[in-house]
Amino acid sequence: MNLLITNIHQLVNVRATTHLLRGKEMAELPVIENAWLRIREGKISEYGVMPELADTTILASEEVYNAKGATVLPTWCDSHTHLVFAASREAEFVDKINGLSYAEIAAKGGGILQSARKLQETAEDALLEQAWQRLQSLMKLGTGAIEIKSGYGLTVDSELKMLRVIKRLKERSPIPIKATFLGAHTYPTAYKEDHEKYIRLIIDEMIPAIAAEKLADYIDVFCEEGFFNPAETERICLAGMAIGLKPKIHANQLHLSGGTETGVKLGAVTVDHLETIDEQAINVLAGSQTIGTLLPTAAFFLRLPFQPARALLTKGCAIALASDFNPGSSPSGNMNLVVAMSCIQMKMLPEEAINAATLNGAYAMELGQELGSITPGKRANLIFTQPIPSLAYLPYAFGTNLIDTVMINGTFI
Ligand code: NIG
Ligand code: FE
Repeated sequence: MNLLITNIHQLVNVRATTHLLRGKEMAELPVIENAWLRIREGKISEYGVMPELADTTILASEEVYNAKGATVLPTWCDSHTHLVFAASREAEFVDKINGLSYAEIAAKGGGILQSARKLQETAEDALLEQAWQRLQSLMKLGTGAIEIKSGYGLTVDSELKMLRVIKRLKERSPIPIKATFLGAHTYPTAYKEDHEKYIRLIIDEMIPAIAAEKLADYIDVFCEEGFFNPAETERICLAGMAIGLKPKIHANQLHLSGGTETGVKLGAVTVDHLETIDEQAINVLAGSQTIGTLLPTAAFFLRLPFQPARALLTKGCAIALASDFNPGSSPSGNMNLVVAMSCIQMKMLPEEAINAATLNGAYAMELGQELGSITPGKRANLIFTQPIPSLAYLPYAFGTNLIDTVMINGTFI
């Protein structure tokens, strides 16, 4: 459908061309006040200011949609989720309130292993339906592209099952999905005393099977004390890279794990989490092409220190924001909340947070040429807000759903 959208209060993140933003650049968010926007075959084609619209012929082949003062933004690009899972884990949430740590819960067979047991018992079709429902809800909250990881399978069959679910979601979904293989999420109980054997299973069996069915775009490892160390992370990533999977790494969540340095050394697209990062690792990241993906809702939910966004930006890092949606550390995929929390707790400016959750989020999935800004030729994946006084009102009024409607590929959902 061809559409002319009129009376846009603010058209946000308008850029003729785009590149990954880093450091100071992230505070610049180009906005057109009182704008119109033309959509052609699901893509953004032209824009301008309302006073000049009279001169622009309204085409016979297009419908006119009056946005009535809505603010229009590119949809959120959520570059880090574990959207496919079989069951919630609120019992553990209560355990944590009662004083148990994340590591203690993991050590007594809870955490990721609990999710793996549930996922192993659940049929592929049931997983698909659950994940599909979650995806639909997230789209209504403004998510217009998403990355989804495996890592709750932890056996050859179950990891492949998870990745097949993601592949079927890709086929069904109107929004782009990227698939990440995270077999190295934790050691299954059977391999507790023989880590080498599980790493061999990942490298010798899982990765070749994934290559044969083309089931993944990226490879991820939970680089963390008690999980996978930097040398193991490197070995696993290199095996993935040999079949064309680029690394996106869980790094520096609970400890100074060396994950950031390992990711940068491997040329990772992103290193994600970064709750526990020091100056040395920040410098390494700043000097690289790797994006630092911050997951504030995971820090919030686990009561960890928030990621040092200001230090990362001052050093010139490229930052993306993502939800980490998963049943253990972030049981919400609401990117509006992620943006608000980044401003409130990490002191990101609203402009920085919106850039990080849109354009840089797109680059964190290598979709920067397709999504993340109002740019001619990019997909018309757009958020229409209720009338708001200014852009800063979005993170300021946290917890209030200010989305009026969402457009995906030029169609309202
Ligand atoms: O990104 N840190 C590792 N993985 C997930 C948590 C997984 C879980 O607890 O189920 C994360 O926070
Ligand atoms: Fe994660």
